[in-house]
Amino acid sequence: MKRIGVLTSGGDTPGMNSAIRSVFKTGVAHGMQVMGIYHGYKGLIEGRVDYLTHEQVENKMHKGGTVLRTARSEEFRTEGGVEKALSVLHAYGIEGLVVIGGDGSFRGCMELVKNGVPTIGIPGTIDNDLGYTDFTIGFDTAVNNVTNEIYKIRDTMRAHDRVGVIEVMGRNCGDIALWAGIAGAADLILVPEIDLPWDEAAKRLAQNKLRGKLTSIVMIAEGAGRAEDFVAYVREHTDVEIKATVLGYIQRGGNPSAFDRVLAARMGQRAVELLDEGKAGRAVGIRKNKIYDAALADALEVKDEFDMKLYELNEMMAQF
Ligand code: F6P
Repeated sequence: MKRIGVLTSGGDTPGMNSAIRSVFKTGVAHGMQVMGIYHGYKGLIEGRVDYLTHEQVENKMHKGGTVLRTARSEEFRTEGGVEKALSVLHAYGIEGLVVIGGDGSFRGCMELVKNGVPTIGIPGTIDNDLGYTDFTIGFDTAVNNVTNEIYKIRDTMRAHDRVGVIEVMGRNCGDIALWAGIAGAADLILVPEIDLPWDEAAKRLAQNKLRGKLTSIVMIAEGAGRAEDFVAYVREHTDVEIKATVLGYIQRGGNPSAFDRVLAARMGQRAVELLDEGKAGRAVGIRKNKIYDAALADALEVKDEFDMKLYELNEMMAQF
C-alpha cells in the first residue's frame, strides 16, 4: 500500500492528535504517503484532502481537539454520499483509510469496506462506550478534567452546606460519571446502566443531612437524566439545599493525559500495520493492556459492560 488517508469523525476527543501523529509516522516508516482528510466523512465527500506533513503533526500532541477537524455527516449515511466519498478516495489514489471515532464512525468504516476500501477503526470517544475495548481514546482525559472540577465545586458546596449535582457526558454510558465519581469521592452516582429511582436517591440525600453530612456530591451521567431536573425533584421532595452544574464541553477539551497520548500512539501504529498487512475492516482495541484488533462488525456487537464492582465500591464508601 503506497498511499493511505486518515480522518477524525464524530465528537472530538483529547488524544486524537497523538493518534494522527502516530498514523503519519508509522505510515512514513512503512514507505507510505499519508493524506489528511479534513472534517471527517463530510470533508471526504467534499474532497477536503491534503498531504500530511511533519509540520502539521508536530507540537500538537499536547493539544485537545483534532488538527484534522471533525464533523458528523448525514450525507455519508446516504448511498449518494458514499459514492461521492469513493470517487474522492479514487481520485486521490488513497488505497486504505484509518478512521478515528466512535460507533457511528465505525459504521461508516464498514460501508467503505463493503465498497472495497480497506479501512481500520480507532476508538476515539470520551464516553468509553465501546464494549470490545477496555478504553477509548479521550476517556482518561475526560475523567481527569471532571475530577478536577469536582473538587472546585465541592469547595463552594461545603462553604454553603449544599449538595452539588454535577452532570457529565455519556449518552448511553455512565463510565465518566462512575470513574470521576470514585476519583472525586462522590456520594451518589446516577448512570443509565443502574435503575436507581429518584425518590430513593432523594431519600439518601435527606438521610445524609440528618446524619450531619451537609455536603454531598452527586454525579449524574446525561444518559440518566438532566442535573436540573434531578435538582428540581429533590427540592420538591426534601429540605436539602441543592445546586446543579453542567460541565459540558469543559470535559472534552484541553490537554490530553499521558495515558490517552500513549494509548492513541499505540493504536495509530497498529492501524497502519494492519493496512500494511493487507487487512481491512478491523477495529483496534486494548484488552488487559495489550493492543489487539477485531472485525468491525464483531467489535460493534460486543455489549459494553458496566463495572458493577466499581459502582458498588462507591456505594459502600459513600455510606461511611
Ligand atoms: O459521543 C461523545 C459525546 O461526548 C456524548 O457524550 C455527548 O452526548 C455528545 O458527544 C455531545 O456531542 P456534540 O454536542 O458535539 O454533538
